[in-house]
Amino acid sequence: MIVGVPREVVSGERRVALVPELVPKLTKAGLEVVVERGAGAAAGFADAEYAEKGAGLESAVWACADVILKVQPPTLAEIDQLRAGACLIGFLQPYVNVEGIQALAARRVTAFAMELMPRITRAQPMDALSAMSTIAGYKAVLLAANLLPKFFPLLMTAAGTVAPAKVFVIGAGVAGLQAIGTARRLGAVVEAYDTRPVVKEQVESLGAKFVELGLETADAQEATGYAKAQSEAFYEKQRQMMLKVVAGADVVIPTALVPGKKAPILITEEMVRAMRPGSVIVDLAAEQGGNCALTEPGVEVVRHGVVIYGPVNLPSSMPYHASQMYARTVTNYLMHLIKDRQLRWNLDDELTRGPLVTRDGELVHQAVKAPPT
Ligand code: NAI
Repeated sequence: MIVGVPREVVSGERRVALVPELVPKLTKAGLEVVVERGAGAAAGFADAEYAEKGAGLESAVWACADVILKVQPPTLAEIDQLRAGACLIGFLQPYVNVEGIQALAARRVTAFAMELMPRITRAQPMDALSAMSTIAGYKAVLLAANLLPKFFPLLMTAAGTVAPAKVFVIGAGVAGLQAIGTARRLGAVVEAYDTRPVVKEQVESLGAKFVELGLETADAQEATGYAKAQSEAFYEKQRQMMLKVVAGADVVIPTALVPGKKAPILITEEMVRAMRPGSVIVDLAAEQGGNCALTEPGVEVVRHGVVIYGPVNLPSSMPYHASQMYARTVTNYLMHLIKDRQLRWNLDDELTRGPLVTRDGELVHQAVKAPPT
């Protein structure tokens, strides 16, 4: 069975779905690995490294592969080259990429979306979203530190004492906790808030202060560990309670997401106006519309003296480790699907069923058929 790794063609994408160190893991399982020439170049992995580890190099892999490993959803032109009945594993943006998903079904491709990995303990080594959130949280702090006209750490110098920067992280999930840890390592004084009360201890263990808003939070979490969407009245109350903390911060990093929904607006224009000029907001929810009302995804803007940046595809800006981490999750998932050198589905297994989007010419994922509103 041939596993193909194409070069990513989406503009700005520098990651690759397989790194050389993981080739032997697949070949030892009896699979043949074929990598498109130049596929790893933008992430820092040369063709020769893949070849050294036992991969074949080709100018095109779409038509010859039984399984394709991808980062970005394939374009319609790429889908047209896929063998009918082939298997595809990658990010598919299943809720918004309607045309692509239909094209995959029409081509009778068995497609697995890494975004739909169930949040269960067994799935952790295959959790691509968490791996990428780790990178986003880290990089958000570096961007903020670069944009801020101040130091992050407390400094005692011959020229006097410099006060540390104050960082406020909203949403302490995977990205938020990484942002807290990174900001602490740079010496900032960090505060954080999340609607899920269970994260208080995690925030404190990283040396940050958990902001108590006194909001009713018992109903903040789904059984899956994800945040529940709240009412507009709740968000209004949350914004009022956070105004003072936001106004006092040098850097605000909102990361608050509710799966499958537009990100809640937690920082209004009024709150931005209350911040000191020169302060910075790095909005990690920008791809889902942003947590700040003034965020323009992908663009750095200055509003009321505050720099607001909502970066998109941050993991691609650190392509070496992003590819390494992503490739680990994808190969772990592929190994889960393989038995005796062949793909063997067990659809009773939620790890197999959860990410499965198309199969036998059909769109089979219930939530993708009827996306959450
Ligand atoms: P996420 O990216 O969906 O959301 C980020 C954070 O925003 C969450 O912590 C959420 O509670 C918070 N949030 C949502 N609305 C908010 C609001 N109005 N105000 C403040 N914060 C708000 O979540 P992420 O980071 O992917 O995961 C969340 C949790 O899920 C993790 O901390 C972990 O406990 C669990 N998890 C479990 C996994 C597994 O068992 N395989 C894998 C990954 C995460």
